[in-house]
Amino acid sequence: MTDQITPLASRPAWKALQQHAETLRPQHLREIFQADPTRGERFTAQACGLFLDYSKNRITDETLRLLIELAKESGLRERAEAMFTGEKINTTENRAVLHVALRAPRSESILVDGEDVVPGVHQVLDKMAAFAEQVRSGAWLGYTGKPIRNVINIGIGGSDLGPVMAYEALRHYSQRDLNFRFVSNVDSTDFAEAVHELNPEETLFLVASKTFTTLETMTNAHSARAWTLGQLKQTEAIARHFVAISTNAEAVSNFGIDTANMFGFWDWVGGRYSMDSAIGLSTMIAIGPENFRAMLDGFHAMDVHFRTAPLEQNLPVLLGLLAVWYNDFFNAQTVAILPYEQYLKRFPAYLQQLTMESNGKHVSLNGTPVTTDTGPIYWGEPGTNGQHSFYQLIHQGTRLIPCDFIGFYKSINPLGRHHDMLMANVFAQAEALAFGKTAAEVRAEGVAEALVPHKVFEGNRPSNTLLAERLTPYTLGTLVALYEHSVFTQGAIWSIDSFDQWGVELGKVLATRILGEIESASEPPLAHDTSTSNLIRLYRSHK
Ligand code: F6P
Repeated sequence: MTDQITPLASRPAWKALQQHAETLRPQHLREIFQADPTRGERFTAQACGLFLDYSKNRITDETLRLLIELAKESGLRERAEAMFTGEKINTTENRAVLHVALRAPRSESILVDGEDVVPGVHQVLDKMAAFAEQVRSGAWLGYTGKPIRNVINIGIGGSDLGPVMAYEALRHYSQRDLNFRFVSNVDSTDFAEAVHELNPEETLFLVASKTFTTLETMTNAHSARAWTLGQLKQTEAIARHFVAISTNAEAVSNFGIDTANMFGFWDWVGGRYSMDSAIGLSTMIAIGPENFRAMLDGFHAMDVHFRTAPLEQNLPVLLGLLAVWYNDFFNAQTVAILPYEQYLKRFPAYLQQLTMESNGKHVSLNGTPVTTDTGPIYWGEPGTNGQHSFYQLIHQGTRLIPCDFIGFYKSINPLGRHHDMLMANVFAQAEALAFGKTAAEVRAEGVAEALVPHKVFEGNRPSNTLLAERLTPYTLGTLVALYEHSVFTQGAIWSIDSFDQWGVELGKVLATRILGEIESASEPPLAHDTSTSNLIRLYRSHK
C-alpha cells in the first residue's frame, strides 16, 4: 500500500484545490452566505444523533466537490477498509489498527493474522463487567474486609487521558459513593494529592499501561504499592488492592499483580485509541457495565457511519477534510475545540493526544518528507469560560483559528435560564466569528472615529457547530469516534502513519541517561551540550 502513494502535489484534486483556494481566499462568508440563501440548511449533515452545521466554513459546493475528490484520489475508502478488515496499516510498527474491533458487536468477526479478534474483545468486556459489578456492589473487599470506596487509575497518555475525560464527561451517570482519582504525572505531587486523606484499606489501584514499562506509571505504581503496604504490611494485600490493565502479562506478574486480576488488550489497540478497551475499566466501574456498553454502541454507530455513508454526508470525513483545508490552504495552525458542556471539560485535552500524537508526523508512509503541513494543534476549553479568556484572539487576532463548537439541546442539570444562556452563546459566537461587524456598522452605533478600528470585527472566521440531544454514554461514544475517524481522514490525505508515535522516544531515552547522571553519587562526566550539562550541574548542586 505504501508503494502506491501518489505525492500530494501530484494529485489532480490537490492542484485544483490550490487554484480554487486562490479564488476563495478573498471571499467573505458574508458574501458566500448572501450568494446562497439555502446554505445554512444545505451545508449540514447528521448521523448517529449528531447534527453538524458546517455552513460557516470558507467553502463552496466546488470546494466540497474537490475535497471529496481529494479523499478519493488519496484512497481514503480503501485505507479505511484496510483498517476495518485488520490489515497492518500501522506499517512502521507492523500492526493492525483495530480500535473499531473494541466496539464490534458479538456477532461480527474481524480477522487479524487469520484469527477472529471479536470473541476475545467480549471475553475481556465480560470479565471487566463482572469485576466492575463486584466493586460497585461492595462485594469486592479490601484485604481487611472493607469494601472499596476509592478507585485510583494510574496511567499516562492514552492510559489516562481517555479514562479521565470519560469519567468527567459521564460523572452524572457515575456511582456517587465511589471516589475516582487519576494519577499520571511522575511529579510526586500528583500521587500525594490523589491519596490525600484516603484509607489504603478502602482503596483500589488500577494500573493501566499497555506496555507496563512506562516510567511514570511504573514509578507511581511502585509508590502506590509502598503506600498500601505501609498500612496493610502483608504482600498478599496487593491482590485485593491492585489490578492491572495491560498487554504485557509478564511485566504485570513481575510487578506482583496476580494475572488473574489483569484485564488484557492487544497490540492492535493504540494507546490513544484505547479508552473503550480494558483501559476504560475505571469508566466502567464508575458508570456501570450497561452504560459502558451504551458508550460502545455509540462508538460502533459512528464506525458504521464512517465506513458506509457517502463521503459527502460523512461526518468524520467532512470534519477531517475541513481540517486539511484550513491547515494546508489557509495556513491555519490550530483548531479550537469548544464544548459548551461543562462535563466535557477534559475533552480538548483528550483530543490533543488523539490528534497530535496521531498526525504530528514529518514523513509520509514511505519515509519521504511530507510536502505540506500535517497535524494542526488542537486546543480548547469549555464554553463560556473560554469567551472570557482567549476568544479575543480568535475574534480580532491575526491568526485564523477554525473552531468546533459542541452543544446539546438539553442540559443534564437544568436550572432556570442557564441552558438557554449557554446555547445562546454558542450560536452568538459562531455568528460573530463568521459575519463580524463592519466599520460602517460600528460607526452607525455612534462610536467615536478613533475607536472604530478597535471595534471592528473582521469576521470570516470559520467554525463548525455540532449539536446533540444530551450528553449520554452513547453520545460520548459517537463524539470520540467522530474525531478518531476525522484524524484518520486527515492522515489518509497526508499519507502518514497516524498510528505510530516515534516522536516520544528521544526524550524518554535522554531522560533515562540524565536520571543516571543526576543520581550518580560522584560527579558524573557530562557529555551533553554546554546548556544541558550546565543545567544538570546546577540541579545537582541544589537538590
Ligand atoms: O506518550 C507515548 C505513549 O506511548 C502513548 O502513546 C501512550 O498512550 C502512553 O505513552 C502510555 O503508554 P502505556 O499505556 O504503555 O503506559
